[in-house]
Amino acid sequence: MIDTAIDVGSTVAEIVDRYPAGRESLIPILQDVQETLGYLSEETVERLAEATGISDNEIYGVATFYTQFRFTPPAAHTIRVCQGTACHVRGSHQILRDFEERLHIKAGESTTDGQFGLERVACVGCCALAQVAVVDGKVNAGMTPRRVPLILNKLARVVE
Ligand code: FES
Repeated sequence: MIDTAIDVGSTVAEIVDRYPAGRESLIPILQDVQETLGYLSEETVERLAEATGISDNEIYGVATFYTQFRFTPPAAHTIRVCQGTACHVRGSHQILRDFEERLHIKAGESTTDGQFGLERVACVGCCALAQVAVVDGKVNAGMTPRRVPLILNKLARVVE
């Protein structure tokens, strides 16, 4: 516990030192910290407040405004279901709903065991392949509801 606190504190301090002082550096600092630590924990925000002199309330205010920032640890497997126009017109809402029902979570949440995270995303830039789900960074083209359980079964085997 103490070691973790020391690591977070020194990591945050090192990152903050790379940027000019001032509020304009807050977003790049938050991005850098999240990339390094995986998410913005309560402790991370406290350390950021100490290192930047910006209050933790203000840091939360900025971070919660942007969907790119997360406040819980990333899941072992991340499933991003595209809801951009090309995917939407082909019925991607049903793909997302199927993932939600099978995982018993809503988009934006992770399963309680931390294995699966589900996200609704805007166009991922490969509309010709609609419908698209990006699983652990890999684009799954031509998604259909039938493929949802297949993907989850495959991931569950990887988890085991
Ligand atoms: S709308 Fe889904 S990839 Fe563009």
